[in-house]
Amino acid sequence: MTVLKGVILVGGPSVGTQFRPLSMGVPKPLFPVAGSPMIYHHVNALAKIPGMKEILLVGFFEKEVFDRFLADVQSEFSTVSIRYLREYQSLGTGGGLYHFRDEILRGNPDKFFVLNADIACSFPLESILAFDSQKKAAATIFGFKVDRKLVTKFGNVVLNPETAEVLHFVEKPETVLSDTISCGIYLFNKDIFGVMAEAISSLRAKLLKMDAASDSRPSLLTSNQAERIRLEHDVLSLLAANKQLYCYVGSPVKDFWMQLKTGSSTIPANRLYLQHFKVNAPRRLSHVPTPVAVSPLTPTTPSTSSGIVQPVFIHPSANVHPSARIGPNVSVGPRAVIGRGVRVKDAIILDNVEINHDSCVLNAIVGWDSRVGSWSRIEGAPGESLQLNATYKGMKVPSACILGNNVSVADEVAIRNCIVLPHKELKTSFHNEVLM
Ligand SMILES: *[C@@H]1O[C@H](CO)[C@@H](O)[C@H](O)[C@H]1NC(C)=O
Ligand SMILES: *[C@@H]1O[C@H](CO)[C@@H](O)[C@H](O)[C@H]1NC(C)=O
Ligand SMILES: *[C@@H]1O[C@H](CO)[C@@H](O)[C@H](O)[C@H]1NC(C)=O
Repeated sequence: MTVLKGVILVGGPSVGTQFRPLSMGVPKPLFPVAGSPMIYHHVNALAKIPGMKEILLVGFFEKEVFDRFLADVQSEFSTVSIRYLREYQSLGTGGGLYHFRDEILRGNPDKFFVLNADIACSFPLESILAFDSQKKAAATIFGFKVDRKLVTKFGNVVLNPETAEVLHFVEKPETVLSDTISCGIYLFNKDIFGVMAEAISSLRAKLLKMDAASDSRPSLLTSNQAERIRLEHDVLSLLAANKQLYCYVGSPVKDFWMQLKTGSSTIPANRLYLQHFKVNAPRRLSHVPTPVAVSPLTPTTPSTSSGIVQPVFIHPSANVHPSARIGPNVSVGPRAVIGRGVRVKDAIILDNVEINHDSCVLNAIVGWDSRVGSWSRIEGAPGESLQLNATYKGMKVPSACILGNNVSVADEVAIRNCIVLPHKELKTSFHNEVLM
């Protein structure tokens, strides 16, 4: 059996700025999507592959940030070691991997996966592995076909249609080269570190030349500049030139992929994961959505509520009134309280949120500890445009409605297409605004 490792590139605190205000409540990689932290889905997909020995999170967040997450996933996936390796400065996506090459190669894995944290995907990792084992190359990347209008925002992959060999790899090209993009999922063997060393020395040579040509001090070569290589830009293009790169293209029917760049992109991602778990085997029994109604509002009502439209994820500690109508495509976090007659659709309701009777939440994210009064409406751009524009095509998502943590919305107001920063108290209606 192939001995495997997995690396998840989690980045650092400076990365999530487009993710505000949600990254103010929790580090972006831990933001809950479909009831689990964003990178839980990565860990889950990696841990299930036979032969997986170790999963390494690589990034430059404080160590404590991942302590609780690591304890949770370690107890769930007990046969795989799961650890966090902290970079003390950002070394770029390639530089970080190179820096930890000894850790990655310890135990002599045959191959290792590298996954970017900020994606939502069906993660067909075993198919990628099977494909890769037929090729004798240093690397296979996961590609996905997107609308030609979007191709230039991503790494563009030009393939030999017969062999799936990557002929060119160009990061964010000026003109469209093909409709296939690189999705931030890579499978490497240990030869990749030789290629990275090559990329580092050519970068060093370039910096030396720049140093010689300018009087600027200190030298560009100090402070590990040359080790700050980017995986796509510096390494993959070199691999393609060396005929060492293949691309497994995802199925438009069975797979999904999207980038989680902005806060609002978590709404279609939540929807895609919930739909995926509905069709495919659920992750584990405790995650099978079972509505619980032990609400203090209705102490005598049994827990079988007919108001649930699948797929939804409702945390067992949430209280949902039986007359509330929840779903489809909704996640409700721990200790949330959803009152009588409330309607929630295409939304993420975070921990300890309270939504009072007869309110409505559509295409929205309601942040931790927020409170929505009664007869109010929190509404973002309609699900359909989100879906067409973002779901299958990795596209920019139109504005949803996002409430940060500890936001309070009064009774009988409407908040439409707004981004609301934490701790705000909204007493009147607003639309199309960022409320600071
Ligand atoms: C829920 O999400 C799934 C997956 O994207 C989609 O197929 C379905 O149409 C959505 N349902 C509604 C009512 O939006
Ligand atoms: C998708 O986005 C475009 C522009 O960004 C917009 O014109 C369109 O209405 C959106 N929705 C659909 C369903 O295409
Ligand atoms: C929540 O916001 C209110 C203002 O609406 C503020 O007074 C309160 O201190 C905040 N609570 C926390 C825990 O930050």
